[in-house]
Amino acid sequence: MFRLFVYLNILGAFLVTGLHIVEPGPEYPASKGAIWPRPQMQSIEIPYYKFDSDILEIKVVDHDCPILSNAVQRSLAVLREMLRIASPYVNRNAPQQVLDDDTYDGPLKSLSIYLTSPCEEYPHFGMIESYNLTIAADSTLRSSSIWGILRGLESWTHLFHLSDNRDQLHINKGEVHDFPRYAHRGLLVDTSRHYISMSNILLILDAMAMNKMNVFHWHIVDDQSFPYQSERFPDLSRLGAYHETLVYTKENIQTVIDHARNRGIRVIPEFDVPGHTRSWGVAKPDLLTHCYDQDGDYVGLGPMNPIKDSTYTFLQELFHEVQALFPERYIHIGGDEVDLDCWESNPEFQRYIQEHNLTSVADFHALFMRNTIPLLSENSRPIVWQEVFDEGVPLPKDTIVQVWKENEAPEMLNILRASHQLIYSTGWYLDHLNTGGDWTEFFNKDPRDLVNGLRKDINVDNIVGGEACMWAEVVNDMNIMSRVWPRASAVAERLWGHESQATYQVHCRLEEHTCRMNARGIHAQPPSGPGFCLGV
Ligand SMILES: *[C@@H]1O[C@H](CO)[C@@H](O)[C@H](O)[C@H]1NC(C)=O
Ligand SMILES: *[C@@H]1O[C@H](CO)[C@@H](O)[C@H](O)[C@H]1NC(C)=O
Repeated sequence: MFRLFVYLNILGAFLVTGLHIVEPGPEYPASKGAIWPRPQMQSIEIPYYKFDSDILEIKVVDHDCPILSNAVQRSLAVLREMLRIASPYVNRNAPQQVLDDDTYDGPLKSLSIYLTSPCEEYPHFGMIESYNLTIAADSTLRSSSIWGILRGLESWTHLFHLSDNRDQLHINKGEVHDFPRYAHRGLLVDTSRHYISMSNILLILDAMAMNKMNVFHWHIVDDQSFPYQSERFPDLSRLGAYHETLVYTKENIQTVIDHARNRGIRVIPEFDVPGHTRSWGVAKPDLLTHCYDQDGDYVGLGPMNPIKDSTYTFLQELFHEVQALFPERYIHIGGDEVDLDCWESNPEFQRYIQEHNLTSVADFHALFMRNTIPLLSENSRPIVWQEVFDEGVPLPKDTIVQVWKENEAPEMLNILRASHQLIYSTGWYLDHLNTGGDWTEFFNKDPRDLVNGLRKDINVDNIVGGEACMWAEVVNDMNIMSRVWPRASAVAERLWGHESQATYQVHCRLEEHTCRMNARGIHAQPPSGPGFCLGV
């Protein structure tokens, strides 16, 4: 069968082109020293400098803080490692290659970092991430925000590339003026369908920083397991996690938040309610609704029970704990895919509908969200899946609506016309797999372009960003890194830069960036097809 298919394909190619020519070598040769995501403005000149860790001095000239000094140390470690793994067979004691070409401008002497405002403690929505980088023998990096300095240092490391004989690191003279197009550039990771280890979560954050992504959307619990270890309600994970060891303790979560903060990444937890909560009911069955079949026989537990006060008392206590733990102002409370049939099957709900003049069972979902949003602490802001908006639940002004369903443009228009901010995910489900090169489909979707010009009464700036989503039904520690990277890199560049289509040059840059991630311990898969990385 397979053979027949191959023959037919070859025959097809033969008929169309006459001859099927295959050239040796990689399908897309990697670029050299290209920044990913592509900066807004960049000039590259021919003169270049050499990295020598004994000569280069990094000077923090203005404000300083541990986030900055840690990032400097990480950048230097990256450069040393690039040199180390690139050419294990180069004899460093042998006389150095004579650099007699007149485009060589000497060793890189210094990088002066000018952070012109004090460091902020935590990254936040709307933080400044712009920076200017000038590469010369004495280079400078400037930003008014620590987060801009972090982005600039990341770009700085991308600019280095190996010399042709792989024994030196070079960087070209030039300038970069850079800033993101979208404020919210996220990755959702589902840690309920499969537990993802702490070490992989930290690696994911490293890779996010390499791609200038700034929101880790932690879809921490769902129907299948409840790995969040609550202090107030320890039974939730003791009984609801897959196993007592497959949990995230308070210390684990603190570690994730710190690791992310040092890389300018916000950690937004999601506690999805009232659906997707079956695992909550292992310890707390009273939270959930009893579902019945057509004969009126009890068949199991469904979504949370919206007509019992105790549901909300519990949620308020849990949210209180979660909001004390996560410094982030936004919290995601889900609200998607509620099983209305279960509510409909329950005689108590039927009575409630009549007594309270509800028009349909869907009103329970709206009722639930309307009761739940005020439970959040005063200065926190909710993010909800699009269904909550669709039901007409009155949402606080600063609520962000996340769009995930197909046929997204009309939905986005409605949300924008209601003056809400939105984040986009429909085209960016990483669990939807095609084959090598499917990242181009992610790359070619621009959330603002989807609705730009369709109506005059909308403000496309309210599309504040988007998220690539890694639902984990068939993803665990074994394959999550290669499933996410470099496919999420396409989303990262779309949200940062302004390249319009996945051109040949974008393919070449992603080859280099993928090798770069591999070199830093991220097991990203080959992006497009045949090719190679050196040293990894
Ligand atoms: C970066 O350079 C641009 C153009 O010269 C300038 O307008 C901007 O203020 C600079 N930004 C920073 C953070 O220095
Ligand atoms: C429901 O509707 C009936 C008839 O319109 C009205 O008399 C009753 O007060 C309503 N009940 C509630 C709870 O709104």
